[in-house]
Amino acid sequence: MMAKKIRLDRFLSEMGKGSRTEIRSAAKKGRIQVNGRTEKQADAKVDPGTDIVAMDGKPVEYRALEYFMLNKPQGVVSATEDMRHRTVSDLLGGEKRRDLFPVGRLDIDTEGLLLMTNDGELAHCLLSPKKHVDKTYFARVSGRLPEDAAGQMAAGMVLQGQIRLKPAELKVLKPGGSRGGEAEVLLTIREGKFHQVKRMFEALDCQVVYLKRLSMGSLSLDETLQPGEYRPLTGEELARLRAETGAGDKEG
Ligand code: URA
Repeated sequence: MMAKKIRLDRFLSEMGKGSRTEIRSAAKKGRIQVNGRTEKQADAKVDPGTDIVAMDGKPVEYRALEYFMLNKPQGVVSATEDMRHRTVSDLLGGEKRRDLFPVGRLDIDTEGLLLMTNDGELAHCLLSPKKHVDKTYFARVSGRLPEDAAGQMAAGMVLQGQIRLKPAELKVLKPGGSRGGEAEVLLTIREGKFHQVKRMFEALDCQVVYLKRLSMGSLSLDETLQPGEYRPLTGEELARLRAETGAGDKEG
């Protein structure tokens, strides 16, 4: 298959080498080479699959799709732009391509696993209600957890008398309650309704005081990542996510 050619300024700006205006100016100054020859026209077409593009003497590899695992810290919103708060995109830093977006949302006070990508198809498959991708959270919960909390969640809770949830799996790590303080739990849900975890505990007269996402499908948070840190997905992590969601099945 013949790869699609794209403009040099698009190639370099997508790879985080500056805005298109900055790339144009860099080209005029002779800072960009294509296959070893200086290219001064930023609108020249290049084939990302075969042409070797370099800026300031360093080769720039083109990756059409990128995937990063972020340990989202508290106080940051799951958005690409926001007027008031820092966003998860701000955390990825200026060298990253600009079309990365978060797959789903974590609340501003929730920490943990967030996948950042520009792969719309994989994101759609992970978020689609039809695919039932498991999401596991660690939570600290105040209030008195009913004895049958796990049973109620397994049966499929009803929120506000009308929203029926799919069965969820609750594992109590530490019971908490009036004498023991906050309970510690793991909760696995198969859908992603607005504030779902918090609302499930509220329906049991409890309050989530700390929430962290540990996994999404087969993808588990790399515990060596401190809040705010990120790393690219490994090939194996990506292959497993694709296989379990059916993403990419229509390719080729
Ligand atoms: N459920 C919530 O209540 N908040 C989150 O951030 C994620 C799931």
